[in-house]
Amino acid sequence: MAESMKGLHRSHRCTEISKENIGQAVTVMGWVQKSRNKGGIIFTDLRDRSGILQVIFEECDCGSAVFEKAATLRSEFVIAVEGIMTARQGAVNENLKTGDIEIRAKSLRILSESATPPFPIEENSRTKEELRLKYRYLDLRRPDLQRNLMTRSRVATLTRAFLADEGFLEIETPTLIKSTPEGARDYLVPSRVHPGSFYALPQSPQLFKQLLMCSGYDRYFQLARCYRDEDLRADRQPEFTQIDMELSFVDVDDVLAVNERLLQKLFKEICGIDLQLPLLRMTWQEAMDRFGSDKPDMRFGMELKDVSETVQGCEFAVFRNALAAGGTVRGINAAGQAGMPRKKIDALVEFAKGFGAKGLAYMAIQTDGSFKASFAKFMKPEELNALAKAMDAKPGDLLFFAADQKTVVWDVLGNLRLELARQLDLMKKDDFRFLWVTEFPLLEYSEEEKRFTAKHHPFTMPMEEDWHLIDSDPGAVRAKAYDIVLNGTELGGGSVRIHQADIQEKMLEVLGFTPESAHEQFGFLLDAFQYGVPPHAGLAYGLDRVVMLMVGADSIRDVIAFPKVKDASCLMCEAPAAVDEKQLCELGIEVAKGTEE
Ligand code: AMO
Ligand code: AMP
Repeated sequence: MAESMKGLHRSHRCTEISKENIGQAVTVMGWVQKSRNKGGIIFTDLRDRSGILQVIFEECDCGSAVFEKAATLRSEFVIAVEGIMTARQGAVNENLKTGDIEIRAKSLRILSESATPPFPIEENSRTKEELRLKYRYLDLRRPDLQRNLMTRSRVATLTRAFLADEGFLEIETPTLIKSTPEGARDYLVPSRVHPGSFYALPQSPQLFKQLLMCSGYDRYFQLARCYRDEDLRADRQPEFTQIDMELSFVDVDDVLAVNERLLQKLFKEICGIDLQLPLLRMTWQEAMDRFGSDKPDMRFGMELKDVSETVQGCEFAVFRNALAAGGTVRGINAAGQAGMPRKKIDALVEFAKGFGAKGLAYMAIQTDGSFKASFAKFMKPEELNALAKAMDAKPGDLLFFAADQKTVVWDVLGNLRLELARQLDLMKKDDFRFLWVTEFPLLEYSEEEKRFTAKHHPFTMPMEEDWHLIDSDPGAVRAKAYDIVLNGTELGGGSVRIHQADIQEKMLEVLGFTPESAHEQFGFLLDAFQYGVPPHAGLAYGLDRVVMLMVGADSIRDVIAFPKVKDASCLMCEAPAAVDEKQLCELGIEVAKGTEE
């Protein structure tokens, strides 16, 4: 029977008690981690969000009634204990914050009993994630998840305080908005009042924050919930949270500067590390050329090298044909890996094929300086020598080459570089390497849609010096767009926005909008641009990703209280779900036959 806590007041959390409290009467409440009856003495580990405290029940302290009640305690019972703090009588437990103290119970109330949980509530659970997510409320009792969510809360609080100090206003924007065609797929919400019409859930507050700049709010921020109907991965959820901001009367450097200070503050307070400012910056072009990625992991080298000129004129058809087709030949050097077994190399070739490589050529420089290459018979010794030299290879090194169109080679070698680093353990979780990637292309060509689409979004400002190319060579126009990258993950991104109606209209035209369709989609923004728009720019971080990297989690699910799984469902509440016929009827919606699950 559950007892009431009437008359009791919790005096401390479990680990808010220390040696200083010895001799004091305290009242603690929490969950039974485990309880062991050793005959005349019962040891109970009491757990709350702060940690664990040992409680001792002995008849001489608490009397026989309390002792008998204590003998019934089982894991996850919720209890309240009054007692006296003492130094630990048994061996000190070095693993516990409270390992040198214990509480000798005088009274016990069982506030609620618990059925046997479907899995043990413990750190570093080995229980399958599906089961843990079904019982997420139990999973969330585990200390590692509790620490993650407490860190997340601190990040949010610190961010708010920092941005408020910097003159940012926290303003909410709507989450029932109009669907826009760019970006990911929208989540739609049907309107009852306007049958056949739909709201969209925002993919980001982008248009609204720009309008707030038009309205003169100057510096805005919001911890904004965003929704994107896209394929999920370890660092993606259908709903996630952005630290979203926008600033007026600024250019790229101003946005980067305030954000570097924000990152410095957060990483100092949470991780205890001192970021040296300014953070490293690199253009998109340089990032692609050196690392084959627009979010390079800077914890290790193994940079891509262009050897097209070196192999120009060699007999190896794979290289020759790729160059003749306007492609490129590039390589990476896995230093010291010449002894890699053939099986492992073959697996890497298969890995490369997964990223579109037709093959992967390799060459080992033996310790005696001779070469072992998959293409040795097609190249003269002096050509092999020149290739090794171009790759800065030493005896003992292993070189990999990809020959193809530039974008394929980037993708293949960029991913091979990461795979090798994983295998060679070159990426330490507590080594934080930040990088700004700047000057992204404004547009990218979509083979699927046979047109240019915005690389960031349609409101991103082109670089002035490239704008004259917008008709002749749109793909070459760079944007005032930037990403903040940490250890190979895109933490956030943003841009300077277009604030001139003529440039915005031209941009929408290049993206394939007619004046009418542009007006239908973004009319309110284009109208607003007629009434005095300040130059403005902004940025948004994925808060989940920031916290994930801070705590070293492998998935953003570990820093979100109630996340969804790969098929975008919630295993606990079982959303999405079918709804009542009556609800559909009110909305004027009929589910097409054969499409239901
Ligand atoms: P962007 O689309 O780059 O920019 O998003 C900003 C950041 O949000 C995070 N993010 C996600 N996190 C978890 N799950 C997802 N599905 C997901 N998608 C994005 C990433 C990303 O860097 N309005 C612009 C920002 C701006 O220009 O100010 C925007 O949304 O960390
Ligand atoms: P093949 O002539 O197809 O037998 O290939 C000879 C070698 O070149 C093998 O080691 C292939 O893996 C490699 N190779 C094939 N295509 C490519 C490519 N596009 N880039 C790099 N190496 C390749």
